Amino acid sequence: MARSAILNVMVQAAMKAGRSLARDFGEVQNLQVSLKGPGDYVSQADRKAEDILFAELSKGRAGYGFLMEERGVVEGDDDQHRWIVDPLDGTTNFLHGIPVFSISIALERQGQIVAAVIYNPAMDELYTAERGGGAFLNDRRLRVSGRTKLVDAVIGCGVPHLGRGHHGNFLLELRNVMGEVAGIRRLGSAALDLAYVAAGRMDGFWETALSPWDVAAGILLVREAGGFVSDDKGGQDMLDGGSIVAGNETIHRALIKTLKRPVTPR
Ligand code: IPD
Ligand code: CA
Ligand code: CA
Ligand code: CA
Repeated sequence: MARSAILNVMVQAAMKAGRSLARDFGEVQNLQVSLKGPGDYVSQADRKAEDILFAELSKGRAGYGFLMEERGVVEGDDDQHRWIVDPLDGTTNFLHGIPVFSISIALERQGQIVAAVIYNPAMDELYTAERGGGAFLNDRRLRVSGRTKLVDAVIGCGVPHLGRGHHGNFLLELRNVMGEVAGIRRLGSAALDLAYVAAGRMDGFWETALSPWDVAAGILLVREAGGFVSDDKGGQDMLDGGSIVAGNETIHRALIKTLKRPVTPR
């Protein structure tokens, strides 16, 4: 599989930051950790990985702007391009020794996501996609699952942090979905949730109250694997609105309908 020069820059940056995360994961008990909000942790590992990604991506393409979880917006000279970066998606898993976390890098060109990398260093799984070029796990081309019935489907979800999102709404949605599907999963890394949908490992995924860096790369991966992505109303406000629903065409449509169904006691 031939990668474009820009995707190579992104992959090299992700691998370097991934080595830093892997080292820190081995001695997680020594890391400085602070709280940004209820249940919302940030550690030295997040910041170190972000520093590496910032340096590598800046070196690879001078002048592009950034939107990064820990440093926020960094304006560039080139207003056509922007990196959207989560240096460690799944900090809670990471700090608990659970090897389900990732680095997520998306490149936006004129407001459109054109390239994506999601890397889980603990499993050495590298997901890549370019607009119009398909989605890959390492060298293998990805395709969303072919299941069409919710009753056969395994669906991923996310539980909003305390104080962020609305737990009452989440419980209503969960109750609706639980009654229809084969199984529910909560991986703890929204970027990997979307990568797993792209890989056909999960048939669908929904979450609310997310940030652009959680989903930007994953949106392109799912689409390039033949899947559908929208916000929870079926629109395209995923980056700013924070809600996302993903799956193959049938599961995506069924999931939106199920999430919004008024709850009837059973
Ligand atoms: C979190 C993960 C998690 C999602 C949270 C996010 P972080 O990102 O994506 O799966 O449920 O809402 O904040 O903080 O670990 O980068
Ligand atoms: Ca975080
Ligand atoms: Ca995140
Ligand atoms: Ca993060």
